Amino acid sequence: MSIVTLSEFIMERQADFPYASGDLSRLLADIGIASKIINHKVNKAGLQDILGAVGTTNIQGETQMKLDVFADNALINAIKWGGQVCGIGSEENDRYFAFDSEVHRKSKYVILFDPLDGSSNIDVNVSIGTIFSIFRRKSSIGDLANVNDFLQSGAEQVAAGYVIYGSSTMLVYTTGHGVNGFTLEPSIGEFCLSHENMQIPADGKIFSVNEGNLYACSSGVREYIDWCKQTDKKSGRPYSGRYIGSLVADFHRNLIKGGIYLYPGTKSSPQGKLRLMYEANPLAFIVEQAGGSATDGQQRIMDIKPKDLHQRTPLIIGSKNMVGKVLELIAAENI
Ligand code: AHG
Ligand code: MN
Ligand code: MN
Repeated sequence: MSIVTLSEFIMERQADFPYASGDLSRLLADIGIASKIINHKVNKAGLQDILGAVGTTNIQGETQMKLDVFADNALINAIKWGGQVCGIGSEENDRYFAFDSEVHRKSKYVILFDPLDGSSNIDVNVSIGTIFSIFRRKSSIGDLANVNDFLQSGAEQVAAGYVIYGSSTMLVYTTGHGVNGFTLEPSIGEFCLSHENMQIPADGKIFSVNEGNLYACSSGVREYIDWCKQTDKKSGRPYSGRYIGSLVADFHRNLIKGGIYLYPGTKSSPQGKLRLMYEANPLAFIVEQAGGSATDGQQRIMDIKPKDLHQRTPLIIGSKNMVGKVLELIAAENI
């Protein structure tokens, strides 16, 4: 059996972009490297306290970093060294960084990421992830990156992906030519193609939502969850409720099995919790490339014009027909 590694696959697929210079390929490869570094650390998460890191400093005298700060630094370092982006936006940092060197000023891309998604699950050994989104810059080559390079709508993404640190570690990405998944083979330290051309089933039997928030949601969303629980042999209801609390993990399962994830707005947080630029946009690009849908309840996620780097959005994402059903019930709310 022949093994296709992530780097081999990326190089092969470069042909999908007739005028590609290889920069995007190198950027994706750098993300693969950063995610291996993060994976290594994530796997030792529970050991940190046992292995002498009880104080606040490590052997080099550096402060032991929380995993999400560690992941943020690992990504920034790998991507900065690669020199393929002129700027970075991260969920962990208030402002974007514009890299001021000749190489970086000449780069074509910017990247945004959620370095560690589901971080409340770190301490309890539950799957977590990394999510990234890549745009072509708007400003001129040679200039310093500016805010308009980052505030682009999801439809303009050139690539997006996630890494899931689960029972195995996987990297899933799209460049707008389908979705492919790679599993980390620890014995050789390589991501190997394991899920070629991923497609989300048009219908599924799983709904993922934090039901604790349900009374504060709109009636359309509440009705949908009720509908999922009603018995209907023909459509296989009641559906199963599955909520991990790590968006990447909930999304990944639903992508493979078919299902829907909802983080709607509530009375106190009308825009919900999730971030448009770091979470919703990249997963929306992936789900659409896999044949599914992503909406905020009113419009397609990837059509939202961002105003702020850290803006939040309600998110309803997954199997096409399931998302369609929620939209139907939301639309009926005001009639
Ligand atoms: P992050 O760890 O990057 O802040 O993201 C956490 C997100 C997401 O991963 C998850 O689906 C959601 O928060 C869970 O929120 P609730 O605990 O409110 O359900
Ligand atoms: Mn997150
Ligand atoms: Mn995070």
